[in-house]
Amino acid sequence: MSHPASATAKALWSKACPPLSGDVRVPGDKSVSHRALMFGALAIGETVVEGLLEGEDVLRTAAAMKQLGATVERRDDGTWVLHGRGVGGLTEPADVLDMGNAGTGARLLMGLLASHPFTAVLTGDASLRSRPMARVTTPLAQMGATFTGRTGGRLPMAVTGTETPVPISYTLPVASAQVKSAILLAGLNTPGETTVIEPEPTRDHTELMLRAFGADVRVEDRADGSRVVTLTGQPELTGRHIVVPSDPSSAAFPVAAALIVPGSHITVRGVGMNPLRTGLFTTLQEMGADLTVTNERTEGGEPVADLVVKHGPLKGVSVPADRAPSMIDEYPILSVVAAFATGETRMNGLAELRVKESDRLSLMANGLAACGVTVRVDGDDLIVTGTGAAPKGGQKIAVNLDHRIGMSFLVLGMAAQNAVGIDDESAIGTSFPGFSALMTGLGAQFDGTEG
Ligand code: S3P
Repeated sequence: MSHPASATAKALWSKACPPLSGDVRVPGDKSVSHRALMFGALAIGETVVEGLLEGEDVLRTAAAMKQLGATVERRDDGTWVLHGRGVGGLTEPADVLDMGNAGTGARLLMGLLASHPFTAVLTGDASLRSRPMARVTTPLAQMGATFTGRTGGRLPMAVTGTETPVPISYTLPVASAQVKSAILLAGLNTPGETTVIEPEPTRDHTELMLRAFGADVRVEDRADGSRVVTLTGQPELTGRHIVVPSDPSSAAFPVAAALIVPGSHITVRGVGMNPLRTGLFTTLQEMGADLTVTNERTEGGEPVADLVVKHGPLKGVSVPADRAPSMIDEYPILSVVAAFATGETRMNGLAELRVKESDRLSLMANGLAACGVTVRVDGDDLIVTGTGAAPKGGQKIAVNLDHRIGMSFLVLGMAAQNAVGIDDESAIGTSFPGFSALMTGLGAQFDGTEG
């Protein structure tokens, strides 16, 4: 489905640039930021969040938590301070909760609301309103919540939480941290044990952070690779200090740019290295990338590292389907890097890409093809064949309200033969405010016009 560009749409073009150099830090992790606000809003006492991502998506979650009764404030020094309502203490919002472009914000919130006995209405932008919600409403309805949405269970949707939630044991039909988290968040205000079984492990920020706030969350890794997560309901969560690591999904863009722009040598500092998020870096190293992970340490309880990246030759690889959950948001930028590699890169098992902020599988395949890249979709696999030379470029791409599509094509333009444009740079602010400034600081040449 295609969506018109946002009202604030502004085109941006990217052209071949000199070698990139510099030392940068990208903004805070989007997944961790959403959760920090939600859990802070449920905790007793004060939660202080340092390094919160101040992107559109996360600001929507902050606004929603305020509408639900929590105190949420930004201090002048950039830290965010919350005073929560206690588990089960959220109150009926006086107006619709507009979650903007944020699938994570919307789905996790639906989980929270499922075990609060009032009705709230959720909506979002054209992209979010087209995304499937049955994946969360099905298990949450089993817990007792009621949902009234548009055809296909799409937003706007009224969520009526139940006063008497029942705990469930649920096996995820799709590998989705959002679905897992929605169920666990509903389980917070549910007596007894709520269990989620994930056939393939997905990012575990919910489990780690809930534990840090004082909840009892048990995780069992089974021999077949599946994972069982069990939460004991009705814990007392206590406010805490959270340091948000830099988002590996945002670091992916400068890293990719340095790999494809000849002569580049950059450092990206303090990148979150949760092993369930680092599939892209593993894949790039398999492609022969000169990518060194250094200075590994723990910051605010999360593993982080500095990434040192140099341009060099890359070769095509096959990316196994079971790696998808650990790099699900990175396929658009990986497909750009693959266009500069020699040989075939086969990205297997990407069905979930069709239901992200846009149909990323089609948008990347069509956009890359328009830029002269040999690319095809085979079922749920994306296959990009590079020659080791720079693709032609010279196209303006409609990003369809998708931040990662926008950033990916701007990175392509940094090393393509001709400039590459996007129709809506404002979409990027959902996850990476300051993207243009950071990239131009490294050497990128972005401009409002093609020339
Ligand atoms: C997220 C999970 C992923 C990812 C999204 C953030 C999260 O979605 O694409 O950007 O914070 O839990 P799915 O879990 O639905 O794959």
